[in-house]
Amino acid sequence: MKLLILNGPNLNLLGVREPEIYGRKTYADLENYIRAEALRLGCEVEIRQSNHEGELVDWIQQALGRVDGIVINPAAYTHTSVAILDALKAVSLPAVEVHLSDVDEREPFRRISYAGLACRKTFKSFGFEGYRMAMDFLCSDA
Ligand code: DQA
Repeated sequence: MKLLILNGPNLNLLGVREPEIYGRKTYADLENYIRAEALRLGCEVEIRQSNHEGELVDWIQQALGRVDGIVINPAAYTHTSVAILDALKAVSLPAVEVHLSDVDEREPFRRISYAGLACRKTFKSFGFEGYRMAMDFLCSDA
């Protein structure tokens, strides 16, 4: 089982950006966490982060025929990107949406998720653990 883990804009600044919301752990910590949990679950992961919408779209398209599922935290593009939604629909791979914070308890605009419309499940507000839950879901239930 191979999973593509995609992270959107500003997640590279974890540890620095709004630590009261996202915590003090860095993006490197997140990558290490995902790799360790993937090893435990017995799945292979490819982890990518981009601040550019088109690059995320390219990576989703290129996932077709290469991976068995996608875990995606589109970050701010969650709430704006029809292009990412369409790319997920186009490849039709099992996908799960993750958010570190509780997007439903923040500003009203964060309650809208376009990408989520193409995802089988959403894990929000669990911090790093949401990625483990998403990988577990795709490895066992999808
Ligand atoms: C986020 C929530 C988004 O609203 C925000 O724009 C992010 C991170 C999260 O993981 O909680 O950048 O996706």
